[in-house]
Amino acid sequence: MNQRRACITAVGTHVPEKVLTNADLEKIVDTSDEWIRTRTGIERRHVVEPGTPTSEIAVAAAREALRRRGIGAGDLDLIIVATVTPDMIFPATACLVQDKLGATRAWGFDLSAACSGFLYALTTGAQFVQSGTHRRVLVIGADVMTAILDYEDRSTCVLFGDGAGAVLLEPGEGENGILDFSHEVDGSGACYLNMPGGGSLHPATRETVDARMHYIKQQGQHVFKYAVRKFAESAEKLLLRNDFTGTDVDLFVAHQANIRIIEAAQHRMGLPDVKVVKNIHEYGNTTAGTIPLALGTALDENRLSRGDLVLLTAVGAGFTVGSVLVRWSGVSWD
Ligand code: ACO
Repeated sequence: MNQRRACITAVGTHVPEKVLTNADLEKIVDTSDEWIRTRTGIERRHVVEPGTPTSEIAVAAAREALRRRGIGAGDLDLIIVATVTPDMIFPATACLVQDKLGATRAWGFDLSAACSGFLYALTTGAQFVQSGTHRRVLVIGADVMTAILDYEDRSTCVLFGDGAGAVLLEPGEGENGILDFSHEVDGSGACYLNMPGGGSLHPATRETVDARMHYIKQQGQHVFKYAVRKFAESAEKLLLRNDFTGTDVDLFVAHQANIRIIEAAQHRMGLPDVKVVKNIHEYGNTTAGTIPLALGTALDENRLSRGDLVLLTAVGAGFTVGSVLVRWSGVSWD
């Protein structure tokens, strides 16, 4: 009997219209287009109008996925939202998305794993499909990073943008679908990248606001070195376990944090440019949004065909690390 696999049967993406270029940032902090481009590969990022919540861009991406699949929100069984910028600490953004979509039959929850959030949510959703308990699971990665960026800190504010992507998971019986995944956490890395204020450790007070604790704090070089090592390690471990090498990969869809991190992993696996998706120049790092947005870029560029072996990899705050292998099922993209 064929094993039941979770297949990605639709993709939807959404980025806000407003664009913040490197030249715009030159007017806000002491930086330069040249520094940002050469150190990160970012040229511009899309940003929401202030006050736009994550649920709004998540719903926009979700509607696109549902429209392409030709189903209604009422057909969904489960909604998982990966985000580090929920609309509120509670209730979960998934509840707000469920209501805005009108997904009356679906339950849902949020998942917090920063830049690895989409991959953790994807594999979590896949378990419900593979077990046979759920038929249609919507997995969303969405972040409004501008809500937690300190525009007085040039070392972080240039890196991020806002964006969302959604994929629909449904059961399939053939060779296609999610084949395997490998996730890791190293919690000793929590001190290198975090937002210290607003949780139970440092609830919001006048002092936490004055100390700018409600913004991202990062030791960039440490995160960079960890990410370079772990991107390649995680991806290669998963390939090896499934008797694949880099040559077997048709498309490498990596978290878009820094072009140098992506290219270090690309070169270690010996992948030519044609097998690697890069859109960081356009969107910056949208945290949980990057991988579904990169799938959207690949579909825009007609680089994904049914049967392709797709390798997804991310590293993020936590530290969290994830890789997922997918045999692409084919989706409609119009
Ligand atoms: N413009 C101009 N100069 C800057 C800027 C800026 N925006 N930011 C920092 N600098 C300066 C620093 O002050 C420093 O100056 P100094 O030498 O006079 O002290 C100099 O540039 C070098 O700083 P470094 O931090 O050593 O620069 P580095 O080459 O490491 O690049 C960067 C910094 C881009 C943040 C890099 O460390 C990085 O990408 N780290 C990974 C961070 C990341 O992607 N985080 C996202 C979440 S985790 C993830 O997604 C994997």
